[in-house]
Amino acid sequence: MDRHLSLSQAARLIGVKRGDIQKKIQENKLRVMEGTVTLSDLKEAFPDAQYEDNTMLEKVEKFMRDAVHKMAQSEREGAQVDALSRRLIKMNQELADEKSRANRMEELIDGLKHRLMAININDDREHALDECKDWFHSEVRNLEIEKMITPIEQMERQIKQFMLPHVRLLPSRHDFISDKSETLLESALRSGLAVDYGCNNGKCGKCKSKVLSGKVEQVSHQDYVFTESEKAQGYILTCSNRAITDVTLETEEAVSADDIPLQSISAKVKKIQSINEHAIIMSVRPPRSQRLRFLAGQYIELSLPEKITAKEAPITATYSIASCPCEPSNLEFHIPLHNNSLFGQTLLEKVKTSDSINLLGPYGSFVLDEDSPNSLIFVAWDTGFAPIKSLIEHAMSLENADTIHLYWMSRKVEDHYMENLCRAWNDALDNFTYTPIVLEPKTDVVAESLIKHLHSEHKHLQNFDLYIAAPGHLNHLLKPLLLANGVKSENMHFESTFHGDEIED
Ligand code: FES
Repeated sequence: MDRHLSLSQAARLIGVKRGDIQKKIQENKLRVMEGTVTLSDLKEAFPDAQYEDNTMLEKVEKFMRDAVHKMAQSEREGAQVDALSRRLIKMNQELADEKSRANRMEELIDGLKHRLMAININDDREHALDECKDWFHSEVRNLEIEKMITPIEQMERQIKQFMLPHVRLLPSRHDFISDKSETLLESALRSGLAVDYGCNNGKCGKCKSKVLSGKVEQVSHQDYVFTESEKAQGYILTCSNRAITDVTLETEEAVSADDIPLQSISAKVKKIQSINEHAIIMSVRPPRSQRLRFLAGQYIELSLPEKITAKEAPITATYSIASCPCEPSNLEFHIPLHNNSLFGQTLLEKVKTSDSINLLGPYGSFVLDEDSPNSLIFVAWDTGFAPIKSLIEHAMSLENADTIHLYWMSRKVEDHYMENLCRAWNDALDNFTYTPIVLEPKTDVVAESLIKHLHSEHKHLQNFDLYIAAPGHLNHLLKPLLLANGVKSENMHFESTFHGDEIED
């Protein structure tokens, strides 16, 4: 019987992005049934895909079938799956090893042939043949001692991922791979999904979900008490269970900013770091039992209590969250230190590590349109990079976008205070490009420069979603210019950052 694969599994198996699979589906080149594709349809839609080799694929299939059969015969499923994984990985190590050796031998023979043919009739033949012999011996020695670690490791990783439990959520049909060392909730958050949860420790019941198929295992204590009817229907807490097999869960997910409740949390300051003369980065850690639920791109009200500031009232200000919702234990904020920033100055002068500050939120609708098939362009002015960073990290964990472009504009080179991170994305991801832009902080100059870049680097701007975090007056100027350059109104998303003196009107 043809195996059904989720889009994530299919993408991993043939080494393409999930977005590539979705594109084939949109072009009607790949059939999808209840969110899955069959292996034979996948092969047809991607005839040139690097399956590493089909033999391996078939063997994986065979082992998967054997696994299911054997699991039905025995109660010791966990041990069998582990043994199966070990056998499979060992076999594929051998296969990869042999394949690498064969490739290397082929190169060696080609090289030798090339060298022999290059010997000229007038050359000193004895000397030329000696040279050939020496070269050949040294290559053979290299071949013998080469470990060829990389292809083996790569293959191991692919096989391991393929073998990990796959979780599907209904009604959204979102799916993710669940590592056995994580709870279902942790895996879902790491995969960028906005599933419902609260205390993260088995008390509140907000992560309650119904297991429709597959097996899960409770891995930590839970105080929440299910009714007999809930138990009979298969309800579990995702914060205290992990997946043992492929699982289908009925669960609540936020689909828009309106679905996220307003939360008030007291969090500890982890780190305050001055990054340049007019900005600081602050990281805070909410208590484990009270994580902040938010969508990438949203902002929050931070409040420094009177106890710290020695003032009569708390000092409050709103800032975008710069970290990804997939990392709920670490919230990051990029805080500008412009002339009137009472909050920034107080933070720098009075707040210490481990002080408690209050968070209220999240707010805002500058969030990713996850259903859009478009490529993504992100634009940040200065510390507008904060919500953009959060959105980019979220987009990366979703693996939906074909291409991601980041333009980070500022008045000075050193204002690109996370340049290394952007360069690392640029180097590590083949679908990501980073363009730093340094220019005079005047609205018309900035707008003109951005339009010039977009116009020359992207032919069809109507096929992009644009996310821009910049001062309000720059956003106002950009909107009609972008419309005139083909960007659709519904594909533009703006966040107004600081309105002070950082950029001239
Ligand atoms: S019980 Fe509170 S999040 Fe799971």
